[in-house]
Amino acid sequence: MNTKTLLAAARAARMRAYAPYSKFPVGAALLTEEGALITGANMENASHGLTTCAERAAVWTAVHAGHRRFKSIAVTADCSPPVTPCGACRQVLWELAGNIAIIMGNLNEETRETTLLELLPKPFGSAKWAENPTSLASIRDEESWRIPVIFHPVGYMISDYDEPGAIPKNYKELLSQVVIDPDMEEGLYRLEEEKKINIISYLHRARGYNLKDKRSGRGDEVYGVFACRAPLRPNAIAQTTVDLVERNKNVLTVRGADLINKTPVLDLKTVLPDPKI
Ligand code: THU
Repeated sequence: MNTKTLLAAARAARMRAYAPYSKFPVGAALLTEEGALITGANMENASHGLTTCAERAAVWTAVHAGHRRFKSIAVTADCSPPVTPCGACRQVLWELAGNIAIIMGNLNEETRETTLLELLPKPFGSAKWAENPTSLASIRDEESWRIPVIFHPVGYMISDYDEPGAIPKNYKELLSQVVIDPDMEEGLYRLEEEKKINIISYLHRARGYNLKDKRSGRGDEVYGVFACRAPLRPNAIAQTTVDLVERNKNVLTVRGADLINKTPVLDLKTVLPDPKI
């Protein structure tokens, strides 16, 4: 993952800071050895000393989610030169993440890069902590499948429907657009050879689910949530097969999507040919 992508994630995280007292929102994005990206932002409190910085929010979230090995952290705020992690964050990052790369940015595309030990040359504590982060309490193997999965959308939908209730009955005939992150446009190479594609999306407005419920179009019959396509499910992921009408660079025009405006798109996949044909 490149510096630009990491800083973009930190900028997006910064938008979710809670900084009413300092009015200085900060965002951080921590990259794991496995390529996962975990973000954080500063969280302030009326009792000012209780504030937590973006960097610590990110590393604590990551360690709690089960991540143990880290490569780099990007930090961003609206200041020049770019913000550097505070002393407390340096110490915490050293213990939990080791001598990672530190990428500092601001909103004017200024960037600086350094390493943790350059910022904190004589940290408190044994180097073993940082060399062997797996000494952190490990998750019992049989429970490891429960570690939350974080997805980073690759794009979003543009459609005429802003609310789930506003999707018209004849949506199968209607056009909408899939906008893919311009940095990922190369991944669309030769997609226009396909007539139909699958859009995997996250139904960001769905709330809650029932394990058993009525299934649309089947009267009063009840089915399990995994035995139907209901949008209210434990993970609000949708798979929609659409006609690919046109590709213009990173923007696809598709027919037949029942997805509301701004639905995050997680992935695009081709459709397997029907073996019966
Ligand atoms: N802050 C961070 O989140 N990270 C840093 O590296 C520097 C400072 C926050 C803490 C506080 O909410 C605000 O910036 C002003 O000090």
